Amino acid sequence: MPVVFDELDWYSSPLYYDIVFEEDTRLEGTFLEAMSERYAGTQGRRVLEPACGSGRLVEELARRGFRVHGFDRSREMLAFARERLDREGLDAELSVKDMESFRVRGRFDLAHCMVSTFKYLLTEEDARSHLACVARSLVPGGLYVLGLHLSDYTSSARSRERWVGEREGTRVVCNIQGWPADRRRRTERVRSRLVVTEAGAERKLETNWTFRTYDARQLRRLLKSVPELELVSVYDFTYDLDRERDLDDDQLDSVLVLRRRP
Ligand SMILES: C[S@@+](CC[C@H](N)C(=O)[O-])C[C@H]1O[C@@H](n2cnc3c(N)ncnc32)[C@H](O)[C@@H]1O
Repeated sequence: MPVVFDELDWYSSPLYYDIVFEEDTRLEGTFLEAMSERYAGTQGRRVLEPACGSGRLVEELARRGFRVHGFDRSREMLAFARERLDREGLDAELSVKDMESFRVRGRFDLAHCMVSTFKYLLTEEDARSHLACVARSLVPGGLYVLGLHLSDYTSSARSRERWVGEREGTRVVCNIQGWPADRRRRTERVRSRLVVTEAGAERKLETNWTFRTYDARQLRRLLKSVPELELVSVYDFTYDLDRERDLDDDQLDSVLVLRRRP
């Protein structure tokens, strides 16, 4: 008998998302703070997080003394983010907005968008518009730290990742599978399967989505079309500060440090 997974939009279950992605949060916070000290041509501590989701990094950076504005299109994720900030006695601005086209009040010293979220923008036009909106929201010298997984179009293998997390009696096992990237359509199919154990009961939940794909050349071309931002460095998903990389196809997990030109 095949195991049946119920369809779930996992952004309408912020707790499960948050449990799965909790592990690297402190490391990412340290990394973002270090990037800002190392590369920003500004001393300020105002941070913008497009697609901030459950607010794990909003909380982390607010705790470190940054003034944070996070936005997302999911009201459920934002409500979860608001609750966590209230619980911790922290303050941050949260709002409902779309990544592809947005305006925010004020200008920021740092913006970031990690864990491939940028790949939800499915057209070149939306990706370019997003980058232009970010550039407009930064002060000159301000940074945009963008973490995304590049695609290897030559690979026909499926990718697999597994995370396990637990919080206050809720255990989540997450298996993420990615199908080979389609070079012509510039898309890749991704599926997450969660097995959630809560109050002695087990639920099996599945989310399917599509990402836009980039190899290093495609990403460079996109960046060139937004001249307000310059690429100043590249790291990887280990967030190791001593490990600067190149933007090339040997390094698929890439964290780009972009800076707003004066
Ligand atoms: C993988 S989560 C990342 C959340 C957060 N940045 C983090 O690092 O944990 C992706 C988030 O992107 C949001 N999202 C996806 N497409 C979006 C869009 N076009 N505009 C705004 N938010 C979007 C989803 O609602 C979800 O909260």
